[in-house]
Amino acid sequence: MTAFLDIRNASRHFGGLKALDDVTFSVEKGEIVSLIGPNGAGKTTLFNLLTGQLAPSHGSVSFMGRDIGRLRPHERARLGFGRTFQISKTLVSMSVLENAMIGAFLNDRSLPKAARHAAAALERVGLDGVAGKRSGDLTLGERRRLEVARALAMRPHLLLLDEVMAGLNQTEVQEIIALVHQLNAEGVTLIVIEHNLKVVRAFSRRVLVLNRGQLLAEGTAEAVLTDPAVVEAYVGGGASS
Ligand SMILES: Nc1ncnc2c1ncn2[C@@H]1O[C@H](COP(=O)(O)OP(=O)(O)OP(=O)(O)O)[C@@H](O)[C@H]1O
Ligand SMILES: [Mg+2]
Repeated sequence: MTAFLDIRNASRHFGGLKALDDVTFSVEKGEIVSLIGPNGAGKTTLFNLLTGQLAPSHGSVSFMGRDIGRLRPHERARLGFGRTFQISKTLVSMSVLENAMIGAFLNDRSLPKAARHAAAALERVGLDGVAGKRSGDLTLGERRRLEVARALAMRPHLLLLDEVMAGLNQTEVQEIIALVHQLNAEGVTLIVIEHNLKVVRAFSRRVLVLNRGQLLAEGTAEAVLTDPAVVEAYVGGGASS
């Protein structure tokens, strides 16, 4: 059977540094996969390879059986890739709605259509009440949700979330967990980079562990989080639990 997303022998070097080193895995439609690993493990680099922000030094990426290695980020977005960025891409002088529309424009040619999809995405994340506000005036939690809304405005089939819960309070974390489950129930496949292991357990699906650019472990949250090699990588890497 053809995998929904398939990444084979992917490596990415930055000079002498192997940020990703021969990583192979696949994701089935409808999964929520957590991607964890210490700081600098290569998680964001892997997202960049999947969405086309970076080209791999070696290896291939295919989506629904199609080799997408040569496609640009906007072309992958049109196929159904949506993502958030660890370093916020929010344009602070623009309104919340305008920022969400940036995502919508990848798939919508007309302004009213983009505005409609952006407004719907803002409603999904509970930001419809502040749509006209300047984005720079949002709280951190609201800004994270705006990142998610911009990705949702692209109406993705595959959504990649890069540490969207970092720095949020318990209530905000719970809201995003609920949203992730809701999106998944609607058919969206997700890969979630997350340092908070409680959140990883809350998703309780398949977990991939990257360490020094390599796939160190793969399995249920229960299995990988008690794997001595994973514990050692975390202790050595200093990631929080
Ligand atoms: N554009 C780049 N140029 C040079 N080195 C890079 C570049 N992007 C990432 N790196 C390096 O590649 C390694 C992996 O970085 P990456 O951002 O993928 O890690 P990460 O797992 O997302 O870490 P974090 O948990 O801190 O976000 C790091 O050593 C980083 O410094
Ligand atoms: Mg990162």
